[in-house]
Amino acid sequence: MNDAAQQNHGTEDGDDGSMSRRSALWTTAAGVAGAGLGLGGLGSGTASAATPLGSDSAAGAQAQTASPQRQGATMVGVPFEGRSTIRVGLVGLGNRGGSMIDLYLAVPGVQVVAVCDPVKEKAQRAAAKVTAAGQPAPAVYTNGEDDYENLCKRGDIDFVYVATPWDLHFEMAKTAMLHGKHVGVECPIALQLDQLWELVNLSERTRRHCMQLENCCYGRNEMRVLRMAHAGLFGDLLHGAGAYNHDLRGLMFDPDYYEGPWRRLWHTRLRGDLYPNHGFGPVANYMDLNRGDRAVSITSVGSPSLGLAEYRKKHMPAGDPSWKETYIESDRTISLVQTAKGRVIRLEHDVSTPHPYSRINSLGGTKGLFEDYPARIYIEPDHANDAWGDFGAYTEWDHWLWKEHANPPGGHGGMDYMLVFRLMQCMRLGLVPDFDVYDAATWTSPVPLSHLSIKAKGAPQQIPDFTRGEWKNARPGMDSAKPAKA
Ligand SMILES: NC(=O)c1ccc[n+]([C@@H]2O[C@H](COP(=O)([O-])OP(=O)(O)OC[C@H]3O[C@@H](n4cnc5c(N)ncnc54)[C@H](O)[C@@H]3O)[C@@H](O)[C@H]2O)c1
Repeated sequence: MNDAAQQNHGTEDGDDGSMSRRSALWTTAAGVAGAGLGLGGLGSGTASAATPLGSDSAAGAQAQTASPQRQGATMVGVPFEGRSTIRVGLVGLGNRGGSMIDLYLAVPGVQVVAVCDPVKEKAQRAAAKVTAAGQPAPAVYTNGEDDYENLCKRGDIDFVYVATPWDLHFEMAKTAMLHGKHVGVECPIALQLDQLWELVNLSERTRRHCMQLENCCYGRNEMRVLRMAHAGLFGDLLHGAGAYNHDLRGLMFDPDYYEGPWRRLWHTRLRGDLYPNHGFGPVANYMDLNRGDRAVSITSVGSPSLGLAEYRKKHMPAGDPSWKETYIESDRTISLVQTAKGRVIRLEHDVSTPHPYSRINSLGGTKGLFEDYPARIYIEPDHANDAWGDFGAYTEWDHWLWKEHANPPGGHGGMDYMLVFRLMQCMRLGLVPDFDVYDAATWTSPVPLSHLSIKAKGAPQQIPDFTRGEWKNARPGMDSAKPAKA
């Protein structure tokens, strides 16, 4: 694994060689004729029959852009109950879950009560971490793909963390809420618009928070730009950009990295932005989406799909299961999101060509511009004559989380820890979470909608108003004030 990958993917837990039943299914199903994904005309590829999207997801997505009637009450501004110790259950203990458990164990006031992964060795390794941290041995759920349901049924869990392959996120989030648990899910929270609506409705009905754990929103640069934007240093905001441009070719073809080829197989199924959250989340916060502005439409175009096939030709031996796959996912997807206030957000996704890692992370307004990778700034009156300024000169604008935790543990430069620390703090103190189900649905909606837009030759697609009109009201988000109590 290269350095960038190591830095951006948490710890490398490796693989114990045993495959979950589902992973085996994914492998054998790859390359079988497509299952009504509505991909006609998108590529010459054969989509995998192992799709969880069922019948034409594109049509389903279109039908769901209008807001359905509210079945519960809003989750805007709803605080957690508050309790001295937050009891956590973790589902999926691969690269991500197996490293994030360290942070749940490092944060004060958190007890890991249960862990779940059908790969026994991974669950046992996680359980050993819990006892090594001085906590009681957790319950261990390894009895097949559905054992997470038994974890969700427990009466002694407040929060379920989900870090499994993407197609499982929706059912797991649903199950957790139906069993009375708040739930936080790795990106993307779901893959279809009707699923996003169902999660919104379920969160409102069950009064449980359903959250997209978008760690990049807690990056030091992102939080500093957020505070500067809200203080008016960029003037009136006009445009921003975010991306997931990360060369994952080596990892996606590495038989020992992911638990089966699930991530690569998505490149046989969709032609859109498979992972918009890392880029969209931070810019959405800068612009107060769902808190005074909202994402209204998305227009996407995609390049040809060549990168994975070229990589395979060079690196994979004849007879490798990947040779049965036909890749259709655009190597680079570029989307333009328009907001209700007329601002423009550019999103990019590229995990299948060589390039240095970048989430772009830019923000522009009437007084100037910030661009990341590398971080640089140009705002009036501080800068002039086309010369970029030093973003390091603006540390006074750091968010209080970063002022209090100078050297946070864990991956991604510490933002993973900030996310876990802050979420657990909100739960302990009975605060309103920094982000909610409406943010989760908004940040994820480019997955199905970019696919639809590319299919429609770049035609704009409406982004639903998941808040049902509440986006017009200003309210706090990630730009939080430090609570009086720790
Ligand atoms: N936020 C981030 O920075 C970040 C970084 C890496 C990965 N991720 C996300 O984390 C998730 C997991 O990615 P990963 O790299 O750890 O993949 P992985 O393949 O290494 O791990 C997935 C784990 O889920 C387990 N699993 C599969 N089916 C299950 C089931 N039915 N019940 C319980 N566990 C099950 C697998 O056995 C495996 O251990 C993905 O959504 C990915 O996008 C997020």
